[in-house]
Amino acid sequence: MKTITVCVNRRLSGRASCAARGSETLAQALENIALSQPNLRIMRLPCMGACEEGPNIKVVGGDFYHGVTLAVLPMILQEVGDG
Ligand code: FES
Repeated sequence: MKTITVCVNRRLSGRASCAARGSETLAQALENIALSQPNLRIMRLPCMGACEEGPNIKVVGGDFYHGVTLAVLPMILQEVGDG
């Protein structure tokens, strides 16, 4: 089982947050892919501590991706062997 974590923290204060930069769309896209990948789990997490670099996605036991866009998701999926 591979796990990809996605920060979906949203701040209403105006401070940077991953959700404000589109991470919920990224999480939803990964969750849709995971529906057909039984060995892939997507976890939505609160702040990962790198807010200014978001959206942030971390492969558990693997790389930490910053400034993620939909175009980057295939590379992340390739890392976990489901791309
Ligand atoms: S809000 Fe995503 S890392 Fe802090």
